[in-house]
Amino acid sequence: MAKLFVNPEVKQGHVNPELQGHFSEHLGRCIYEGIYVGENSDIPNVNGMRKDVVEALKEIKVPVLRWPGGCFADEYHWKDGIGPKEKRKKMINTHWGGVVEDNSFGTHEFMELCRQLGCKTYVNGNVGSGTVQEMSEWVEYMTFKGVSPMADQRKENGHEEPWVVDYFGVGNENWGCGGNMRPEYYGDLFRRYQTYIRNYDHEHPVAKIACGANGGDYHWTEKVLETCFDHGFGYMNGLSLHYYTVPYGNWAKKGSATDFSKEDWYSTMEKTMYMETLIKRHGAIMDQFDPDKRIGMIIDEWGTWYDVEPGTNPGFLYQQNTIRDALVAGINLNLFNKNCDRVKMANIAQMVNVLQSVLLTEGKKMVKTPTWHVFNLYKVHQDNDLVESTLIGNSEAGIGELKAKKLTESVTVDKDGKLYLTMTNMSLDASEAMEVVLGSGKVKSVKGQIVTGKMDAHNTFKAPNKVQGADFDAVTVTKEGLTFELPARSVVLLEITLKK
Ligand code: AHR
Repeated sequence: MAKLFVNPEVKQGHVNPELQGHFSEHLGRCIYEGIYVGENSDIPNVNGMRKDVVEALKEIKVPVLRWPGGCFADEYHWKDGIGPKEKRKKMINTHWGGVVEDNSFGTHEFMELCRQLGCKTYVNGNVGSGTVQEMSEWVEYMTFKGVSPMADQRKENGHEEPWVVDYFGVGNENWGCGGNMRPEYYGDLFRRYQTYIRNYDHEHPVAKIACGANGGDYHWTEKVLETCFDHGFGYMNGLSLHYYTVPYGNWAKKGSATDFSKEDWYSTMEKTMYMETLIKRHGAIMDQFDPDKRIGMIIDEWGTWYDVEPGTNPGFLYQQNTIRDALVAGINLNLFNKNCDRVKMANIAQMVNVLQSVLLTEGKKMVKTPTWHVFNLYKVHQDNDLVESTLIGNSEAGIGELKAKKLTESVTVDKDGKLYLTMTNMSLDASEAMEVVLGSGKVKSVKGQIVTGKMDAHNTFKAPNKVQGADFDAVTVTKEGLTFELPARSVVLLEITLKK
């Protein structure tokens, strides 16, 4: 049995909608086929964007989208992706399968996609192989309203008004695919490149994101901040962090997305819970430089990474998605909520057809993955305040050394005082008797939803609704709060209305 104490009066931070952000790279079938099919496709589309995909993404209220990479970002030259499509340069996508990139999806198309989704824009610039001028001109092209060489070109290309760039990434993984740099060197480059990212639109200043660490590379965080910080706050709004959940941490043999053992399940859970350690430890270093937490931790790549589906291009990173992924999603989204004082954005990798996707497509068909169903549950947290909650009696679950905390939770409150509790139970076989004790207020009514299934349950193009959200009614209102049995392998949402 576990007890959860909730204190609705004590607010601990704002849950930025961006904590449920997404990432789309020019990789495999994410952009091409997955999102963009072109105006002439027989797949129903609006200005080239798949209608079914856009609808499904709007349903989960995608708050922000990062593009064009990833590793692709540091090889991308944005001028190749503007102007008449037939004249756009073709290039090799060296990172991802060596395929031809025809640049038919470029800046205008990305902005159109974000317009259709109604989400914020996060554009990732090229430091690894691009110039300061190129980066500076991209920002001018996108955001300058008046008369200038870049703004004039944008207008000639059919877009009179500037767009809003909410976030701009100064390079990606510059410790690796983005140039194999040392942190001091990257820190210096960040100082230089960001200088020329001008704020042309003072009502919508561009938030500048520096490239952060790979998992537990604390040295990177420390040195980048040390190198940059004598300028003080104002030119770095965020520092990124990338962490992928790989069973056993074994990149050479990550295992199948659908055909896995109980040990593989628990290893995945243990590895994903490491996110909590990463947030705390990187956060502690950030606190030394920025105690007021003005620089956001931007976890702009996270999610599971398994072996690709048999028979698919290894460079396309296409994987299926099961209840195991649903748990990973629920756990991480809870961790982001609980640390919302420092974590300001997180972007699951990647949106469609790549790694831990919310959607998979095959020709005209599309399926919503178990991860989509978890995002659909958690969307109610967006823009709420985190409230204090403490879990007592959270035991570990696992096999031998492969174990981690069985439960995670987070509780938020909306503007009308309604509470939203999300919980995960990653045990394969043991449910948990839960008692929720409210520090103030009494429960008037409660409504629940659940995502659960066998450990390898997943949706296919033939059986697209095997895993879905379902009502969860087995909740009893008590004098002190609530009691319920949290099933094994489940992600649950409770919407709690308090008496006035
Ligand atoms: O998401 C796939 C790749 O993982 C990204 O391109 C890169 O940033 C990371 O290594």
